[in-house]
Amino acid sequence: MNLPKTSVSVWIDNTETTNFPPLGGNISVDVAVIGGGITGLTAALLLKRAGLNVAVLEAAKIGSGVTGYTTAHLTVAADERYQNMISSLGEKDAKLVAESSQAAIDRIAQFVAEENIDCDFQRVPGYLYTENTQDISEIEKEAEATKKLGLNTSLTTELPLPFSVKAGLLFPNQAQFNSLQYLQGLAKTVNGGGSFIFEQTPVTNIKNNSVNDVYTERGIVSAKNVIIATHAPIHDISSLPELYVMSTKIAAYRSYVIGVKLRSPVPVGLFWDTDSPYHYTRSYGNILIVGGEDHKTGEEVNNQECYENLEAYVKARYDVESIDYYWSSQLYEPADGLPYIGKTATNNNIYIATGYSGNGLTFGTIGGMLISDLIVGRENPWSKLYDPNRINLLAGAQRFVTENLGVAKHFIADRFKTDAQELSEVPVGEGRILDIDGKKYAVYRDEAGNLSSLSPVCTHAGCIVNWNNAEKTWDCPCHGGRFSTTGKVLNGPPITDLNQQALPTSNVPKG
Ligand SMILES: Cc1cc2nc3c(=O)[nH]c(=O)nc-3n(C[C@H](O)[C@H](O)[C@H](O)COP(=O)(O)OP(=O)(O)OC[C@H]3O[C@@H](n4cnc5c(N)ncnc54)[C@H](O)[C@@H]3O)c2cc1C
Ligand code: FES
Repeated sequence: MNLPKTSVSVWIDNTETTNFPPLGGNISVDVAVIGGGITGLTAALLLKRAGLNVAVLEAAKIGSGVTGYTTAHLTVAADERYQNMISSLGEKDAKLVAESSQAAIDRIAQFVAEENIDCDFQRVPGYLYTENTQDISEIEKEAEATKKLGLNTSLTTELPLPFSVKAGLLFPNQAQFNSLQYLQGLAKTVNGGGSFIFEQTPVTNIKNNSVNDVYTERGIVSAKNVIIATHAPIHDISSLPELYVMSTKIAAYRSYVIGVKLRSPVPVGLFWDTDSPYHYTRSYGNILIVGGEDHKTGEEVNNQECYENLEAYVKARYDVESIDYYWSSQLYEPADGLPYIGKTATNNNIYIATGYSGNGLTFGTIGGMLISDLIVGRENPWSKLYDPNRINLLAGAQRFVTENLGVAKHFIADRFKTDAQELSEVPVGEGRILDIDGKKYAVYRDEAGNLSSLSPVCTHAGCIVNWNNAEKTWDCPCHGGRFSTTGKVLNGPPITDLNQQALPTSNVPKG
């Protein structure tokens, strides 16, 4: 496979990096926002506009989370089909999902216009389609469901794609943009006038004293309200045990993307097929961006094969000149098909927004809109629908039980699992779990042949991490926590790095 040398998203590659300062000591604000992605920055800007002082604390750079690695389709066509929502939620709530998604796209369009954000925002048609005869009825049912909800959709087989489809459903007037340029536009507007953006400021804990104290290595931010906008809510189980419940309601998945140049014109529009996992396609200038191959994070799959499968899918349908980009990132599936947005059960004015599936740019915008309304005490018609403390709907109960049985299985069975017996079996550039004298080690051999070793016990709730050979990371199969080869947290919910754990001296090869 001819992948480029480094994995980078098309947004990161085509956008200047930001340079906001880190936190420089203790401060007090009305609202502390943890995470500089679409959820955090949407909330921050709306709260600033409402007259509150806001501090956004970002562990790395603005957009360095999933919003910088998304594919940036803006659509009302949610991953959970409307036909299913009508059966599980009823027509009234399914309509609210469609209305809130439409309001999110409109909110983004307004921010772009009001703040003059140069981010290639463009209205485009969206198409749900199938190449399989057996899925035609699914498309027809979705057409009926969307019509019932008042969406302006129509059935068509005329798609601007270089291959034929068996059925398609057109969603007119959807949108696409460069998500990172958009975020940077929001961040620029948030910063200043008593509100702040702090980069390179990872939050290490949140404690409720008289107000909420948000701890970082560079100072404490005291705030009446805290928004945990880290996609999967980060938390330390000992200080915020209530938040562990949220990790049991969402399941983490990796999704893979390649960006290719074609010898033929690049189709303009948003395209989603009915495969499972499904493929999602759009253009960015002369690049065709195709995503898919989702699987549960930390599952023992050959991650490299996911890119190979995606390449084969694209090459079978388009005249590919070169593969210019490849990247992957994480999404969270909610137990009952709807995101969790609102105040946590802690009753300490702590807010979360998570479980967006593959629609987190619209749901993240809804998250920012809804949480800012809750904080300023404004009525919001979506608050009950997305309430994170809602009782699991019947539709979600089975998925919830299955996911958590999987977690229990990993917690127990993975303790007996090793994937190498000897250090010599750890190839260059790879990691393996070894058992040495009854103790488990996560061992990595770098490109120069040097070995490093960590404890493989995830610092969130104690599951054993697995090696991800495409991204060179240690991934936790329980709730999607991910760590670098040096043990640094890359993805929540864990907040603490993997523990360093030196190999027994008798096992370290003499240099
Ligand atoms: C491959 C892929 C393609 C997708 N495509 C689409 C799409 O086309 N359309 C769509 O609507 N959705 C899509 N999604 C989903 C969507 O991109 C995400 O749901 C959304 O970007 C999440 O935004 P967020 O702000 O909640 O999280 P993020 O963008 O992940 O932001 C969270 C931020 O929190 C920071 N953070 C984490 N821990 C800490 C800490 N301890 N202290 C301080 N900061 C911290 C991170 O660095 C990060 O910047 C896609 C997802 C994937 C994986
Ligand atoms: S992410 Fe929860 S145990 Fe690892």
